[in-house]
Amino acid sequence: MEYHRFSAKPCSPYLFFTLLLLFAFLASFADAAVHFHEFVIEAKPVKRLCRTHSTITVNGQFPGPTLEVRDGDTLVIKATNRGRYNVSLHWHGVRQLRNPWADGPEFVTQCPIRPGQTYTYQFTIQNQEGTLWWHAHSRWLRATVYGALIIHPKLGSPYPFPMPKREIPILLGEWWDRNPMDVLRLALFTGAAPNVSDALTINGQPGDLYRCSSKETAIFPVEAGETILLRIINSAMNQEMFFGVANHKLTVVAVDAAYTKPFATNVIMIAPGQTIDVLLTADQTPARYYMAAHAYNSANAPFDNTTTTAILEYKSAPCSAKKGQSLKPIFPQLPGFNDTATATAFTSQLRSLSKAKVPLEIDDSLFFTVGLGLINCTNPNSPRCQGPNGTRFAASINNVSFVLPRRNSLMQAYYQGQPGIFTTDFPPFPPVQFDYSGNVPRGLWQPVKATKLFKLKYRSKVQIVFQDTSIVTVENHPMHLHGYQFYVVGSGFGNFDPKNDPAKFNLIDPPERNTVGTPPGGWVAIRFEADNPGIWLLHCHLDSHLPWGLATALLVENGVGKLQTVQPPPLDLPRC
Ligand code: C2O
Repeated sequence: MEYHRFSAKPCSPYLFFTLLLLFAFLASFADAAVHFHEFVIEAKPVKRLCRTHSTITVNGQFPGPTLEVRDGDTLVIKATNRGRYNVSLHWHGVRQLRNPWADGPEFVTQCPIRPGQTYTYQFTIQNQEGTLWWHAHSRWLRATVYGALIIHPKLGSPYPFPMPKREIPILLGEWWDRNPMDVLRLALFTGAAPNVSDALTINGQPGDLYRCSSKETAIFPVEAGETILLRIINSAMNQEMFFGVANHKLTVVAVDAAYTKPFATNVIMIAPGQTIDVLLTADQTPARYYMAAHAYNSANAPFDNTTTTAILEYKSAPCSAKKGQSLKPIFPQLPGFNDTATATAFTSQLRSLSKAKVPLEIDDSLFFTVGLGLINCTNPNSPRCQGPNGTRFAASINNVSFVLPRRNSLMQAYYQGQPGIFTTDFPPFPPVQFDYSGNVPRGLWQPVKATKLFKLKYRSKVQIVFQDTSIVTVENHPMHLHGYQFYVVGSGFGNFDPKNDPAKFNLIDPPERNTVGTPPGGWVAIRFEADNPGIWLLHCHLDSHLPWGLATALLVENGVGKLQTVQPPPLDLPRC
């Protein structure tokens, strides 16, 4: 009696409070989840296009393992190099606040992990949710060393859209019918462009339109009527792509782990490094439908013009429409390879979901020309000068063709105060003004090789306008900034007009990204606040352009106090 009365009356608020505490306790545990993973980088036989290659993989998987975490979680990834190449791993899009040591690009934030060695990447996801990915950041290893990194919202926070019935990561890739490291090595020897890939892939599989590939085509089952979330990642080396699903609308809800105002489209354009989340409702006649991707080729250059497919299969599809039967899946219509109008129309619809915190006053206003170049040879007949007219291909930002250091990583040299590894005199604008997207005089085609960084004060408000040049060819260059998310405030074709274009910037709800393409022969403007100290690589995510020098790095100085200062490096950070 006593007990009952006691428990019944004062209990309800008390119990409520206790439960609340308990929930908070559990939630704090959920927030603090730590995920341990062992990534063994090793060669494994992988058969594609009728041939088996000794392929560098993570844990023998191709593509590599999918990491699934929640915002606030910590990842601890012990990377062991059992392959024959130096390697490093990059967590593409993770902000790595004050922690460049976990970022991964070799010779930028770390020395490579040598064969036989180990390095443990440890980092916490802070206020990010959505689709990111991870990949090797060491020459061309990322051709096969990559995987999805999915960040779910904190426990109890919903998506800003109806909960999908299932979620499917779609990794677009490129496959060479030879060792990709040899493809790069040959190109760097001859000075010519690397061979284009032999197949495009969806989740590592070329699909039905390639030789010896049909049986392994990726099939995604759906229930009629349900809505699914496709987390599309372009992990291809060199190719922007159009992607669509036959008869189905795609509703874009996020890009690069940042939510967008939803809009429906038949086709998306996605550049290497980018991710796009789309909702798809299985509202068509139960059957099998192809999802397909092929190149968006904005340059005047050879490209892989094949088409990769996977199959969306309604579970209630008539048996005759299922595996091994004659009924062919329905094929989607994809835009033409050089359909820049469609690519631009798609990209220009992106808006951030909520009001953006765009810097309005700018401290550092930078104008970066990006594009290819040619290095003249003293002996044009040399086997090392097989680029156009006996030259060697190069690429640059503001005429500086970026060279990675060899003796140390930039970040380690900076932290240790070691001189002679880099300079901080990267030019804020091109050394010579010219008609960037017009007919460029031949005398301006040759860049200068150097390791120059651009220094920014902590919390500086930065604007960068990337201006594509027409040197060799105009092209969509997907520019990726490590350690940051930025707002894409404007873009256009032709030369940027500093008088009139800024007035048209979207400072209200521009999309937030970590990788943005220059329109071919055009410009794109980004803004961000330099609130993450460290050295952060800024580069074209086409892996033929990066070794040619289409890169620089931003050196963001420390602010005041511990919370604005780069953390000390982990003890096992590899040395050069
Ligand atoms: Cu996804 Cu520096 O790269």
